[in-house]
Amino acid sequence: MKTILIFVSTLDGKVTKWGEPHVRLWSSHQNQDYYKKVWNESKLIVMGSNTFNADPSSPSPDHQLIIMTGHPDKYKSLEISGQIEFTNESTVELTARFKSKGYEQMLVVGGAHVAASFLKEQLIDELWLTFEPKIFGTGGNLVTDGKLDINLGLINCEKVNEQGTLITKYAVLKK
Ligand SMILES: NC(=O)c1ccc[n+]([C@@H]2O[C@H](COP(=O)([O-])OP(=O)(O)OC[C@H]3O[C@@H](n4cnc5c(N)ncnc54)[C@H](OP(=O)(O)O)[C@@H]3O)[C@@H](O)[C@H]2O)c1
Repeated sequence: MKTILIFVSTLDGKVTKWGEPHVRLWSSHQNQDYYKKVWNESKLIVMGSNTFNADPSSPSPDHQLIIMTGHPDKYKSLEISGQIEFTNESTVELTARFKSKGYEQMLVVGGAHVAASFLKEQLIDELWLTFEPKIFGTGGNLVTDGKLDINLGLINCEKVNEQGTLITKYAVLKK
């Protein structure tokens, strides 16, 4: 199973603007269209509870949404079997479960806490990162604070508008 981490970032590595959680207020239309396409094509999508709470995703029979939380009981009323699930499994357990079920791809859509958890365990195969040509100075980072040492290799880079939004794909180089 290939595990993909997808994010949109500014040139100074911010994934949120100041204290505002809604990414679509500043990301380009081209990136939003791309993200929607990737989302619609994904059968298995994983996110952290903060990302879910910032913009709750609607369940759909087309995908299995997995929300990582230490408090799954809090969300019991929102669960729909096969569509939306809240779990306190570790990143390792979660990955092993869906790998054994035969899923070909898992899309991890953030946020920073969840990204760091997956990267720390070397569970990410590719980073699909959009660079918006902006600088915010203050905002959330791609990963939370902590020591990581990850090398990536560029697979693809596409300039998608005049301003210079870059949609990139990187492979994580495994040690
Ligand atoms: N620019 C982008 O592409 C992008 C992408 C995604 C998100 N975002 C933004 O990022 C913000 C959220 O990011 P965030 O870093 O605060 O939160 P997050 O990674 O979405 O969620 C973190 C929370 O998930 C729960 N959790 C359970 N198991 C975990 C595990 N193994 N590892 C990590 N977390 C686990 C914990 O909360 P509980 O246990 O308390 O439930 C933890 O506090 C939002 O503002 C969102 O809009 C931006």
